[in-house]
Amino acid sequence: MKLLHVVGARPNFMKVAPVLRAGAAVPGIEQVLVHTGQHYDAAMSETFFRDLELPAPDENLGVGSGSHAEQTARIMVAFEPVLDWHRPDWVVVYGDVNSTVACALVAAKKATRIAHVEAGLRSRDRSMPEEINRILTDQLADLCLTPSRDGDANLLAEGIPASRILLVGNVMVDTLLRLRDAARARSLPQQHGVAGREFAFVTLHRPSNVDDPAVLNELLRALEDLGTRMPVLFAVHPRTRQRIGEFGLRAPNGHVRLLDPLGYLETVSLVEAASVVLTDSGGLQEETTVLGVPCLTVRTSTERPVTVTEGTNRLVASTREAIGSSVAAVLEAKARGAFQPARPEGWDGKASERIIAALSAARAVAG
Ligand code: UD1
Repeated sequence: MKLLHVVGARPNFMKVAPVLRAGAAVPGIEQVLVHTGQHYDAAMSETFFRDLELPAPDENLGVGSGSHAEQTARIMVAFEPVLDWHRPDWVVVYGDVNSTVACALVAAKKATRIAHVEAGLRSRDRSMPEEINRILTDQLADLCLTPSRDGDANLLAEGIPASRILLVGNVMVDTLLRLRDAARARSLPQQHGVAGREFAFVTLHRPSNVDDPAVLNELLRALEDLGTRMPVLFAVHPRTRQRIGEFGLRAPNGHVRLLDPLGYLETVSLVEAASVVLTDSGGLQEETTVLGVPCLTVRTSTERPVTVTEGTNRLVASTREAIGSSVAAVLEAKARGAFQPARPEGWDGKASERIIAALSAARAVAG
């Protein structure tokens, strides 16, 4: 069986790593890794390949940045001959980035079977580019591999037959559990002088938070407020750094430290030790749930509801007031022991093994 895995942007790398490992452990599986080049800076890509012990990609399409249409189109054009050349049994796509939907669309037109890892998540907010990518990729996929039961329900409600849906659990958790000790050994809190102290860890990069000057300014001022309470370590995505410069916004004063984007191990090292995480990332909502760290997600919706119902995640509005009062409430609840590590169904470190088993079984059925 030949699997062709497609990755492009930062959150994909944590998801493909365990699936590649699980595939490599099974005799008779040939695997090809394609990197579209959607993310290309060393801090957004190479560092992750190193931290996650990923093999170098077999193919790098080198598409780079652009508008959504440009980027998606460039990925499609570059991917088509690669698919023709490798002729895999399955194209495996991950998550909800532009590379995911672009390669799924190419594969579907070439009658190549598609497996979507992290299928079924829905924020119900179509202003998010990721929501469009999720809906379309799931419609195209032959096998929708879901991380949680809400994913199965969402897919059924959209008319996808049950025979195409399989709950396998969360591959991000496979990676987190495998690399948790290695992350700890990075000792980022010590390096930043916050070991054993209260501190906040922050990431913000969603267009809804950083593309509007008024919203971004409000968030920077909220961080400044938070900095009066505890040190704030803010890992700044390239898009966010660009916007702060472009809009001429004042960087937060005081105890807010602006860091370059961090690698995977560095991020987990800080997240695990943080008193609170403030973010709009999808992955951090999941990682904080497993680690039992309070997470405030600066969004009006989440496609990962189990992180709220079973985990440590709370949604918060993008205002100084809302963030200030939520931080206070969360710290008070934390002091009462309200936040404990949670393991939703299938978040057990074995999702990638279930994925490889499912792909092998589906191939056997199809003959
Ligand atoms: C993409 C994903 C998003 C994911 C995020 C993680 C889509 C639609 N969005 O958003 O779901 O949460 O990745 O980071 O696929 N840039 C660099 N260096 C890089 C990559 C990007 O400087 O290596 C800058 C470029 O100016 C680019 C901007 O960041 O225009 C945005 O990059 P892009 O890949 O379009 O989207 P992200 O915001 O990273």
